[in-house]
Amino acid sequence: MPVKNILCVGAGYVGGPTMAVLADQCPDIQVKVVDLMDSKIKAWNSDNLPVFEPGLLEVVQRARGRNLFFEVITPEAIAQADMIFISVNTPTKEYGEGAGMASDLQYWESSTRTILAHARPGTIIVEKSTVPVKTAEAISRILNYNNQAKRFPVLSNPEFLAEGTAIRDLENPDRLLIGHELNPEGESAAKTLVDIYARWVPRDKLLVTNVWSSELSKLSANAFLAQRVSSINAMSAICEKTDADVGEISRAIGMDNRIGSRFLEAGVGFGGSCFRKDILNMVYICRSLGLDEVAHYWQQVVELNDYQTHRFFRQMVSTMFNTVAAKKIAMFGFAFKPDTNDTRDTPALKVALKLLEEKAHLVITDPKALGHAQQDMEGFPGVSFEPDPYQAAHNAHAIALMTHWKEYRELDWEKIYHSMLKPATVFDGRNWLNHKALFEIGFNVVPIGKKALLHY
Ligand SMILES: NC(=O)c1ccc[n+]([C@@H]2O[C@H](COP(=O)([O-])OP(=O)(O)OC[C@H]3O[C@@H](n4cnc5c(N)ncnc54)[C@H](O)[C@@H]3O)[C@@H](O)[C@H]2O)c1
Repeated sequence: MPVKNILCVGAGYVGGPTMAVLADQCPDIQVKVVDLMDSKIKAWNSDNLPVFEPGLLEVVQRARGRNLFFEVITPEAIAQADMIFISVNTPTKEYGEGAGMASDLQYWESSTRTILAHARPGTIIVEKSTVPVKTAEAISRILNYNNQAKRFPVLSNPEFLAEGTAIRDLENPDRLLIGHELNPEGESAAKTLVDIYARWVPRDKLLVTNVWSSELSKLSANAFLAQRVSSINAMSAICEKTDADVGEISRAIGMDNRIGSRFLEAGVGFGGSCFRKDILNMVYICRSLGLDEVAHYWQQVVELNDYQTHRFFRQMVSTMFNTVAAKKIAMFGFAFKPDTNDTRDTPALKVALKLLEEKAHLVITDPKALGHAQQDMEGFPGVSFEPDPYQAAHNAHAIALMTHWKEYRELDWEKIYHSMLKPATVFDGRNWLNHKALFEIGFNVVPIGKKALLHY
């Protein structure tokens, strides 16, 4: 049966952009994105979207009101759907057994039970959220419990988009993964989803696997990406002790096509809602499976990341004569990466909190994430927020560059230097600026994994 109505439960960073692109590519399919949060739905129906992504507003404006709708979740919306994506949050559990490691699955379980109460038999359920391996089986058990007449095929279709490039990734993905249960209903459901994606994605990029491989592939992909970041950050620590240059190392090893050049930039550490959460989840799964050595291996990727962020903070304090008390420090960027307003697990927050503990005065600036920064830092004294980077740097002792926004390369750094207290220092947590030019202006420059350029 052709799919005419798609519903997505969860209008977040994944549900919103994913469904906007699907609706844009398939004008004959009605796509509804639903959420519990009225405020979020209102924002999706405005031009001030809750998610910032380059190109997203244009895609939403093309499809919204035509075949793309954002609504608060209702039984009717569920009952109308031929296919339902579950794209709710699966954060790290903060309580009870597995706290700090395991996935908190309460949101997907409650959305699954709402679906069960209202969906029509035969509706295809697609697990889009990142979940522990074997979750689709649990969804299927809940949906098909004790009710042979009600068959809900369950697919796993993890999302690989990267924030900041979500629209490009969704329109032109490296691959899409569709995992199905090994029965005729599962195979037929997978074919239905493949046929939808095949309208804009070449068929050789549509990988069909069993459902468990699909779930585990998502955790593996994030673990491998994070591991590369921690590996190059580990090298940056060695570079700082040996006068080697981590940029030169990245270039030298990246030209080996077995290694490849991407994801080899040293920095203040990875962030975002996924890497830490998914690795810790994998660590928890490994421990539950009795694979302690494997768990330890992946855990180290997260520990190295924390070490790197802490190292950056310590470097700031020691360069500023071992005290930052009462010193004004401008933080350039708070989003965990450029081209997003997402601040979840951003290293900027950890560095900010440490600097406040040392009694620094912080001024945070960011082109898109100031609203979230304000929420994250609520209740902490000694911090202010300033959209204009020139104002943020005015009378500051130092700038800590935390997010490599393109805008920061284009600033008038001479003007910034003259407005700051001296010695004026730039801590470049992303190796993003022109260090030689800054040094020639008069700044002390402290990069990551490279020799600091100091005037004293
Ligand atoms: N953010 C990313 O870059 C990314 C990339 C790939 C995969 N993922 C995964 O996708 C999933 C969603 O991530 P996100 O970043 O979009 O999360 P998010 O927090 O931005 O959005 C989730 C939304 O689900 C809603 N929700 C929760 N329970 C609900 C319910 N019962 N009914 C209706 N709505 C409900 C929440 O209100 C929220 O708006 C997670 O599992 C995440 O790991 C995220």
